[in-house]
Amino acid sequence: TPGTPGTPAETSVTDKYAYAFDIDGVLIRGGKPIPEAIQAMKMLNGENEYGIKVPYIFVTNGGGKTEAERCIQLSQQLEIEVSPGQFICGHTPMREMAERYHTVLVVGGEGEKCRQVAEGYGFKDVVTPGDIIKDNQDTTPFRKLTTDEYKNSRARNFGETEIEAIFVFADSRDWASDQQIILDLLMSKHGRLGTRSENFDEGPPVFFSHNDVVWSASHDLTRIGMGALRVSLEAMFKAVTGKELQTTAFGKPQIGTFQFATRLLQQWRKDTHGIDSPPDTVYFVGDTPESDIRGTNEFDKHVENTHWYSLLVRTGVFQAGTKPRFAPKATVDNVLDAVKHGIEREH
Ligand code: G3P
Ligand code: MG
Repeated sequence: TPGTPGTPAETSVTDKYAYAFDIDGVLIRGGKPIPEAIQAMKMLNGENEYGIKVPYIFVTNGGGKTEAERCIQLSQQLEIEVSPGQFICGHTPMREMAERYHTVLVVGGEGEKCRQVAEGYGFKDVVTPGDIIKDNQDTTPFRKLTTDEYKNSRARNFGETEIEAIFVFADSRDWASDQQIILDLLMSKHGRLGTRSENFDEGPPVFFSHNDVVWSASHDLTRIGMGALRVSLEAMFKAVTGKELQTTAFGKPQIGTFQFATRLLQQWRKDTHGIDSPPDTVYFVGDTPESDIRGTNEFDKHVENTHWYSLLVRTGVFQAGTKPRFAPKATVDNVLDAVKHGIEREH
């Protein structure tokens, strides 16, 4: 507890500032921790010259698993305990849409995982592309379901089902068939497969869990991501129908995601550290100028009590020698330097 008399210095927690971390390209690359990440976490947990602990949360655009599963994985990778109370991924804010839409198509990720995530969010009737292919194999001429996919998929008469919204939860594992199915729905009458709208203006809305065109995986160079699928889908819709397609993306840099992060951090600091006031500064460490730095800087203009301070690392999407499209407060080599930067600035 901050300022409690008799609390030894090595266990005191600061209420003045906090950290928020992007994951891919900052802490993890291709499933492996970035070497400095483990030391950076130790430093926040009190292994620093001031013997102070700094509260922190994680805000990733990634997804495809439940928050709880992802935290178990992150705990192992970073050798710390990560709780779902300090974790947001791209699709976390989508849980607030579960009341609005009954039957939804959920796209992306591995196997049945995203269906489980969506059901966990309270979506009542979750359809996957596999369900649609199982019902009608001719949907995707060059894509056959594997034995497992066939077994897990739930066929029904989709001619009688109204799909009310489309949610892309995680990266598509098969762009051609996923895009075919999304396009069929967008061109349909009210989300009924097998129908075609005359003016292509009756299809369901499409939501993406984020808009990162590229991201940082195990390859040396950036890899195309969900934002690329979005661009592709919009271009394809235009090519086929002659019309513009409006889509919505969650995740960073959206203000809503940073508001969500603020509430999470507030709750986390209260529940685990007994801190009831907002921090003076939140250091946000990211590797993608368009998502992390842009979002942090814009959000900073929106909030009154807290300063959101953007820190750009050189271990991910942003590469040394280039000029970031959105300028951070500071650029550092890696996440350990980002943690040192904030701690030194504060003391
Ligand atoms: O697909 C995930 C990627 O686009 C970004 O993840 O952790 O860098 O926000 P992150
Ligand atoms: Mg990143």
